[in-house]
Amino acid sequence: MHLREQLSGQTQSPGVLASGSHFAPSNIALCKYWGKRDAALNLPINPSLSVSLGHLGTQTQLTPIDAAADEVWLNGVPQAPSSQFSTRLLRLLERLRFPEEPKLRIDTHNSIPTAAGLASSASGFAALARALNESFQLQLSDARLSVLARLGSGSACRSIFHGFVEWQMGQRSDGLDSHAIPWPHTWPQLCIGLLKVDASVKAVDSRSGMQRTLETAHLYQSWPAQAAADLQALRQAIAEQDFALLGARAEHNALSMHATMIASWPPLLYWQPDSLQAMQKVWQLRQQGLPLFFTMDAGPNLKLLFEAQNRQQVEAAFPDLEILQPFVDEI
Ligand code: DP6
Repeated sequence: MHLREQLSGQTQSPGVLASGSHFAPSNIALCKYWGKRDAALNLPINPSLSVSLGHLGTQTQLTPIDAAADEVWLNGVPQAPSSQFSTRLLRLLERLRFPEEPKLRIDTHNSIPTAAGLASSASGFAALARALNESFQLQLSDARLSVLARLGSGSACRSIFHGFVEWQMGQRSDGLDSHAIPWPHTWPQLCIGLLKVDASVKAVDSRSGMQRTLETAHLYQSWPAQAAADLQALRQAIAEQDFALLGARAEHNALSMHATMIASWPPLLYWQPDSLQAMQKVWQLRQQGLPLFFTMDAGPNLKLLFEAQNRQQVEAAFPDLEILQPFVDEI
């Protein structure tokens, strides 16, 4: 069955394609997605939990064009069709388009500060899913939008929503039940500090990194159970606004994921000397009584977790920090 029919029931083109501009926020996982049970559909081995970053993310516009090929623009600059960036976006578009429909121009703008070392594929595919939904007039529910975004990049399924977002791993082989859901809780005091160690493109991206871990790391066997337990603890932390529990579980979860990476072969170590130095500084400050934790993704940068009342102390220790309050920032 054509993906479009599977998602929306649509079997023929609505005719004229609409053009619209859509935003999706970036997200930071507190319980990480690491490992796929189906690589073609981006179906995860474990559920995950993230917090969306308010106004930081991607704005994407789709416009039908009278041309022989699609066009991809990033921050106002045309991208080569063969670049990795264009190929991934066009692959998702191609899976949805009917043959008789026109080519499109994809215009993508990232509001993520380039210095923050944040990946933009999550917000990028979520914004693209929203724009495709409008262009092809699919009228997808949020859950189906999340499924569509997931096909572009797993973590993108969480960027369909704001606030705390859980990606329910689902059980079906077609993946229609593997999508994100928003949690009702807010946490206005919660701050995320983006600590850039190195924003250059990483040597091994998340996609190949998690595949390598799955295939070669003996420690990976313990990961699904750990992630499930972390998710439960984080659920409790958020419901009770227990910051010490939230920070500890998020940090432990990230370090456990990195332990599985390090146990891969060839080894995957995303840390740089400055990453380690920053971790040790966090631990030292914590020992001195400051409730400060970190999480890390498949890269050398740290995302610090703390509450607004400790902002000054954290800023004094890390002057270059980009600080966000996901539940207060204007959306
Ligand atoms: C470490 O979503 O980028 O950031 O599904 O292959 O596109 P693909 O992977 P991706 O992996 C993100 C991994 C992570 C953890 C997380 O965001 O949950």
